[in-house]
Amino acid sequence: MKWSEIFTSSVGKKWIIALTGLFLITFLIVHAGLNACIWVNDGGTMFNAGAHFMGSTVVIRIVEVGLMLGFVLHIVQGIMLEIQNRRTRKIGYAVAMGNKGSKWYSRSMGLLGTLILIFLVIHLSHFWIPNRSNQGWLLGEEINLYERMKITFQELWVVIVYVVGCISLAWHLLHGFQSAFRTIGVTNKKYLKMLNALGTGFSIIVPFVFALMPISFYLGWIK
Ligand code: HEM
Repeated sequence: MKWSEIFTSSVGKKWIIALTGLFLITFLIVHAGLNACIWVNDGGTMFNAGAHFMGSTVVIRIVEVGLMLGFVLHIVQGIMLEIQNRRTRKIGYAVAMGNKGSKWYSRSMGLLGTLILIFLVIHLSHFWIPNRSNQGWLLGEEINLYERMKITFQELWVVIVYVVGCISLAWHLLHGFQSAFRTIGVTNKKYLKMLNALGTGFSIIVPFVFALMPISFYLGWIK
């Protein structure tokens, strides 16, 4: 494959989607871990200290630019691959395979990705955008993110949007996690079996932990 084909061939696109996907998975682990401090139930002291570290450290703010770039590349290449696949599918099979060929969520990565994107836009407008605009371009005063969460998650419709976002994330990861390793060339059956099990656990536990956050605030489990 030529360098120029990284963005245009379907193999190149799959590689970019896989590598950015794995990077985004590591982000999810850090994000869920830091957010889990809300359950210390100390009025947000520990969570806000962690959030302050993430929001006021220059190196992490530079990594944040990489994160946003990772999201953009993952989404753009995902959309392009989906369009390409739809075009070939039109020529495609005489008989639809349904669930025999693949799971429904493997065939619905575009739809699930779109739901996550809608969730992400709403989510960033709740916390990240107000926080960064309050801070100014670099390292000014941050907002109290814990208090902001408490207020945001008083509304049932917001909690529902977050839970639907997390369920979409779970289905998306259920295919994406193991698919990324196949794309980058893991072919060993034993390793693939292990990665499948790990991916299934990750795809259920991490979105479940995320979904529990707005629910915990809404139900008053944390003050
Ligand atoms: C459902 C429970 C979640 C809660 C309560 C939550 C909470 C937060 C908060 C408070 C921030 C602001 C951080 C800051 O401004 O420094 C944030 C940032 C962010 N969240 Fe979430 N989040 C959740 C789930 C997710 C999920 C599932 C994703 C991805 C699919 C996600 C992606 C992001 C991104 C990209 C940022 C900006 C990261 C940055 O600071 O650079 N979040 N989240």
